[in-house]
Amino acid sequence: MKKVLSLILALTLVLALAACGGKDNTPPADTKEPADTQQPADDTQKPADAQQPAEPSGEKKTYNIGVSIYQFNDNFMTLYRNELEKYFGELNSDTVEYKVNIQDGKNDMAEQTNQIQNFITQGMDLIICNPVQTSSADTLIDLAVDAGIPMVLINREPLGVDADGNTVDESYPGIVDNATVCYVGADARQSGTYQGEIVAALDNKGDMNGDGKVSYVMIIGDPENPDAQYRTEFSIKALTDAGIEVEELTAQIGNWDTNQGQQIAQNALNQFGDQIDVIFCNNDGMALGAAAAIEQAGRKVGEDILLLGVDALEECQQMVQNGTMTGTVLNDHIGQSHKAVDVAVQALNGESIDNYYWVDYVKVDASYFA
Ligand code: GAL
Repeated sequence: MKKVLSLILALTLVLALAACGGKDNTPPADTKEPADTQQPADDTQKPADAQQPAEPSGEKKTYNIGVSIYQFNDNFMTLYRNELEKYFGELNSDTVEYKVNIQDGKNDMAEQTNQIQNFITQGMDLIICNPVQTSSADTLIDLAVDAGIPMVLINREPLGVDADGNTVDESYPGIVDNATVCYVGADARQSGTYQGEIVAALDNKGDMNGDGKVSYVMIIGDPENPDAQYRTEFSIKALTDAGIEVEELTAQIGNWDTNQGQQIAQNALNQFGDQIDVIFCNNDGMALGAAAAIEQAGRKVGEDILLLGVDALEECQQMVQNGTMTGTVLNDHIGQSHKAVDVAVQALNGESIDNYYWVDYVKVDASYFA
């Protein structure tokens, strides 16, 4: 009897709840008003029901943003991530709040896919993604598009379309098919070109040992990343375009990492010694490692060897100033993160967005500080 009574009680409760909670859970057609059904109960955020005035003016709007960074353990992306969070914070006001949830992709595609799926389940209003694998970005884009959530991709350009918007891989659906997906980044060809131009502008055009050619070691970020591919290619292209004869001694993958950069440079210095004129690194993180190896080998940047990086980390800017590094290229983490946030806000406001946003690199050699 007790059981029957509690069953009746439970049934009555369910019916009563269904009657007063008859809110339609389908997201509103207008993307300006993201559904907040997944948010914790908070009176200020409850959608207005028929009895209440619709959105009294002055009511605070909350947007939830999920961010997945390919790996927290990365010099440049740490600067980028901190600036992204800081800038969102600066945009908070009496009328709007951006709640940013930043996750570490741990350089693991499965982990990152999981994070994106969780963001979708949690009903995030927008996702910012720094893909672990650019070749798998389409899977992440599809997840966001299917869930009707705008996605801003950053730093690692999904393959398929180049910086001029030309399709380079027909099989890839790309960003261009989706009005709510975009990429914010810098054209890595420019950074490579700047590295090469810094060398070509020197009096000896980079031929430190005077044997008539520029023999170089290339330390590559990661092979499937367009930043690495373009920097590797265009740094050397700038030399050959300037009529300089080049010779590649070795090209190795250092995964953007200082320790790996040091190891590769150390091995190369042991193997090739004075033959090396230039060590090109796809980023400053690896150049810091190479600088340590150069010092250990008793070589002197600017006197018998040249060292180039990309990012213009604070530390490397100082090294360029004091001559322990030949040059670097400013990868504008402030400009890029602010653009990503501005575009995100545009999308959250239901405004249309472009598919691609490009931020310029800046050449940083000794003359930059003059
Ligand atoms: C590059 C940057 C590298 C590394 C990489 C990660 O743009 O120069 O230092 O952060 O992005 O994708």
